[in-house]
Amino acid sequence: MIKILENVSLKPYNTFGITAIAKYFAVFNSLQDLVEVLNNAAFLNTKKLFLGGGSNILLLNDFEGLVLKNEIEGVETVSETEEKVVLKVGAGENWHSFVLKTIERELSGIENLSLIPGTVGAAPMQNIGAYGVEIKDVFLQLEALNLKTLKVEVFNLDKCQFGYRESYFKQEGKDKYVILNVSFELSKNPQFKISYGAIQETIATMGIKNLSVKVISDAIIKIRKSKLPDPAIIGNSGSFFKNPEISIVQYKELLSKFPLMPSYPINENYVKVPAGWLIEQAGWKGKKVGNVGVHDQQALVLVNYGNGKGNEIKELAGSIQESIKNKFDIIISPEVNFIG
Ligand code: EPU
Repeated sequence: MIKILENVSLKPYNTFGITAIAKYFAVFNSLQDLVEVLNNAAFLNTKKLFLGGGSNILLLNDFEGLVLKNEIEGVETVSETEEKVVLKVGAGENWHSFVLKTIERELSGIENLSLIPGTVGAAPMQNIGAYGVEIKDVFLQLEALNLKTLKVEVFNLDKCQFGYRESYFKQEGKDKYVILNVSFELSKNPQFKISYGAIQETIATMGIKNLSVKVISDAIIKIRKSKLPDPAIIGNSGSFFKNPEISIVQYKELLSKFPLMPSYPINENYVKVPAGWLIEQAGWKGKKVGNVGVHDQQALVLVNYGNGKGNEIKELAGSIQESIKNKFDIIISPEVNFIG
């Protein structure tokens, strides 16, 4: 029997540290528990919110329904050859703890994704990525419960429709599935990806000559700690906005006015521009507005200094979007999911 609690504060369950009350709250550890709660006659018509690590949500109001926290655990070796290992991981496993387990086994593939907050099940929702690697690069398949049919469906790489911080589960599949487990194919012969950002510099300052997955993971952890606030200390949800994609034509026009504007190539017609740069140039970096603000080391991160409300963050985000539109004629969109 899974226990359904009433009037539970969601503060510990969202990394923004927003105080919002869930009318009902329950944790599930298995598919059986999940199906049981979904079949509970008393809650059939109750609005539901599925939570992983709560690291990519902004709670705008109290939640007048049932919050279901996914704590399905387990890391299982499905197959192993001389080159590769397939691991099937419970959706409720903490992402970084899983990364550390793969590093202990000297498996390569997700070392660049060290220290990303959240759970394994949330990772495919937005195709998490950092330092030149995205989850789609090592993804094999996932199993998800269809909330309408209550049948388990298998999603391969194609079916997930991964894009930049995008997937089927944020589009047509939104609110229709609960991810139960994810399978990854990791390598025993590492192909280190160290060309992005400050990885090489950081490894050099660590005085290390021989690369390993552990060295790369340690370097990434060092970089992330230096730029990104620890949610246990200051509430935040990582990058709040996606980096916008603009046409090369627009980019060239902008360069004549802003010659230092950085960009990353996408294809022959589009480039990605770092939203953090735009926000800093528009004067927002380190700005505090009441209980909330823009982080002083990375302008892409909005922070809650303590008693911030979801709507204060939303308003700040709106003002930032407006000022970026006015200054650069670029629309930036949130990466974080607004709830309520
Ligand atoms: N920049 C500024 N000012 C700032 C922040 C950044 O000028 O305040 C400039 C930097 O100097 C650099 C560029 O913007 O030239 C890019 O900055 P950075 O390498 O820090 O990465 P990002 O584009 O801001 C993305 C991801 C991060 C990921 C890093 C590293 C998105 C939305 N964010 O940030 O992901 O860790 O690259 O790969 O794509 C997340 O999704 O929550 C997240 C933290």
